Amino acid sequence: MKYQNWRDFLRMKCFVRPYAWHLGLMILIGLAGSALGLAQPYLSKYLVDNVLIRRDGHALVVSAALMFAATIAGSILSYVSGYGYMRVSASMLLGMRTKVYAHLHALSPRFYARARLGDLVSRLNGDVAEVQRISGDFFLSTVTNVLFIAGSLGMMIWFDWKLFVVGIVLVPFSIALFRLFQIRMNLLARELRQRSADIGTVFVETLLGFRLVACFNSSEYELERFRGRNGSFVSTLLRFQSTSMLGQSVPGTLFTAATIAVFVYGGQQIIAGQMTLGTLVAFMALHSRLLSPVQSLMGLSASLSSGRVSLARVLELLDTPIEVTERPDALAVSAVRQSIAFRNVTLLHDGRTVLDDVSFEIPSGTFSVIVGPSGGGKSTIADLMVRLLDPDSGVVMIDGADLRALRLRDLRRTVVLIDQSPYLFHGTLFENIAYARPCVHRAAAEEAAQAAGLSDLLQRLPEGLDTVVGERGLTLSAGERQRVAIARAFLSNPEVLILDEPSAALDPERETELVDTLRWKFHGKTLIAITHKPALASVADHILYIKDGRVAEHAVPA
Ligand SMILES: Nc1ncnc2c1ncn2[C@@H]1O[C@H](COP(=O)(O)OP(=O)(O)O)[C@@H](O)[C@H]1O
Ligand SMILES: [Mg+2]
Repeated sequence: MKYQNWRDFLRMKCFVRPYAWHLGLMILIGLAGSALGLAQPYLSKYLVDNVLIRRDGHALVVSAALMFAATIAGSILSYVSGYGYMRVSASMLLGMRTKVYAHLHALSPRFYARARLGDLVSRLNGDVAEVQRISGDFFLSTVTNVLFIAGSLGMMIWFDWKLFVVGIVLVPFSIALFRLFQIRMNLLARELRQRSADIGTVFVETLLGFRLVACFNSSEYELERFRGRNGSFVSTLLRFQSTSMLGQSVPGTLFTAATIAVFVYGGQQIIAGQMTLGTLVAFMALHSRLLSPVQSLMGLSASLSSGRVSLARVLELLDTPIEVTERPDALAVSAVRQSIAFRNVTLLHDGRTVLDDVSFEIPSGTFSVIVGPSGGGKSTIADLMVRLLDPDSGVVMIDGADLRALRLRDLRRTVVLIDQSPYLFHGTLFENIAYARPCVHRAAAEEAAQAAGLSDLLQRLPEGLDTVVGERGLTLSAGERQRVAIARAFLSNPEVLILDEPSAALDPERETELVDTLRWKFHGKTLIAITHKPALASVADHILYIKDGRVAEHAVPA
């Protein structure tokens, strides 16, 4: 299995590095706090042997005051380091989430065709937070607890090494037992995150597909499916919790047995006059305080194993290769002077040839139509023109230059694609139209909306451009959404505009009207319409017939 190595955690160092100084300082403060905690048992030995046994009232007040001061100072230092550390780890979380999110932006339609949205959200939200929760605790707790344990052990040996042996003999068993529980927790943690992602997937899928669910009366079925997944989640959760609780309490019980052994052995030594009462009191104090840091270290290693699972799920996203990348020496491009051309372009999806040795040239400044039956590869051609995909072999070129040699930002400013089913965000019509140019003037957005044929709609809506269209623009009709996307394209005013199935949602006279507007608006620029309806082709300068991933015919109408 990939990602089962502890070294994976080292990959987090790029998120830690910017805060190294701050972290170091917080750890130092935390260490000072733990050191003060160690002073307590020593003071209690002094209190018993030098103060109580000698009946020294003045020294009693002084040592009690010292103890009190040490406690307060220790708490303050722990608070400061804990708080400061948390702040740093929250910043690291932001850094990590941003990096994963940015990486997701760079992935291709191939990835999204296969990815499950619910799972992605669960990784981006839940898993990243889990990694932060663990790492937010990890360094500080480990360092302070280890120091505390080492200090305690040292003092215990110094007080009485035989008593130390009695107190410590059961600890290895306790740790071994804990390891066993931990291995099981590892498996359960992974299963738990998977179950949780499964539930998220059902939610996202069925809520996005609510129309389908309603039309096929499958709400009951989906609820049942959700209940089933929830059931497996809960049963895994319960197994995880019970393992986790047993994993803490069983080794802890062994520890308590050790405390009793110390008490019995130490008591005998005192009765035999071979140990002072103060030594036993201080020793018991040290020994009983040992349990909590040992347990918390054990707990940490348990959460570490669940954190490792989450980290693996995050790293898996980060390691998904980015297909479309920009070369460091990429060239600027702002216009298409001669043509857009495909030369021997082949593209595979899952090993299946979708485009097979496609070559054609679309001269700039023309209106071209790409026609062909659905599933033939037309939308794939459009994706290649804006580099949502790169060809597996062959080249796509603008004026003879491979698109892969051009700056990606420039390319996507020069060539704009309006999707088959345009996406609208939850927001106003204005925000959606101005998405390409958020600072644009209102009048310009209004003009673009009018040119795109949205006047009727805007007149009907009391709030006009300020009307909020629901998520994915679902308060609009499919044709209206298409027009919003066209208005968006008008505003971004590209050199090349590709419309994928623009007339799919339009009636025939609207279609001619739209084409007229487009030709007028894009006069002198390159306009490419993709359609499975041959009607549009009659007004085009160029027609490209695509069938079964091949160019069937390239025609120039008379
Ligand atoms: N991400 C993908 N994974 C696998 N197959 C895909 C993917 N995207 C498209 N296809 C397949 O590629 C072929 C061409 O699709 P497309 O270009 O959308 O056709 P058109 O736009 O001409 O209707 C179809 O058979 C489709 O099933
Ligand atoms: Mg298509």
